[in-house]
Amino acid sequence: MSRAPLPYNPKILELFRNPKNLGKMEDATVTAVAGNPSCGDMIIFYLKISDEDVIEKASFESYGCAANIATSSVVTEMIKGMKLEDAWKISWKSVVEAVGGLPSVKFHCGILAVGALRRAIRAYCKNKGVSPTWLSKEQTFEEKQALEEEELAEILSRRMKVEEEK
Ligand code: FES
Repeated sequence: MSRAPLPYNPKILELFRNPKNLGKMEDATVTAVAGNPSCGDMIIFYLKISDEDVIEKASFESYGCAANIATSSVVTEMIKGMKLEDAWKISWKSVVEAVGGLPSVKFHCGILAVGALRRAIRAYCKNKGVSPTWLSKEQTFEEKQALEEEELAEILSRRMKVEEEK
């Protein structure tokens, strides 16, 4: 049975084919991973942050789908030159808007991209030993979603192993 292709808009398809800021950053100040390699939906964010807390460079590696690559590309473009505080405020909805919309079943791909960004910012603050007022103590929606996906993928991969061993 063949599956109908997802209705991606031309902007997403273009970003998928020619993503910006794709690749490992050797001199990153901080790195964050979101997703789970066992199911293939994994992304890594690299940020180079100045002493004044400005994001000088951002790049990513993605093992996710076209929507994930497109949203990660857009996020890394949006945050270049931004203060950490402003980058922290970027929501998954603004990212979905920036790519011209996503099929609803693909919202989580954009959420994962923002989840990775927030994790990177949180890790940077932790490494620096600072806790700015704009950094929420509680995990944000995007961070929680990333965690939920990882837990779900973990459960599924454990179940698959049990099935295989039967
Ligand atoms: S990253 Fe999982 S389907 Fe897009």
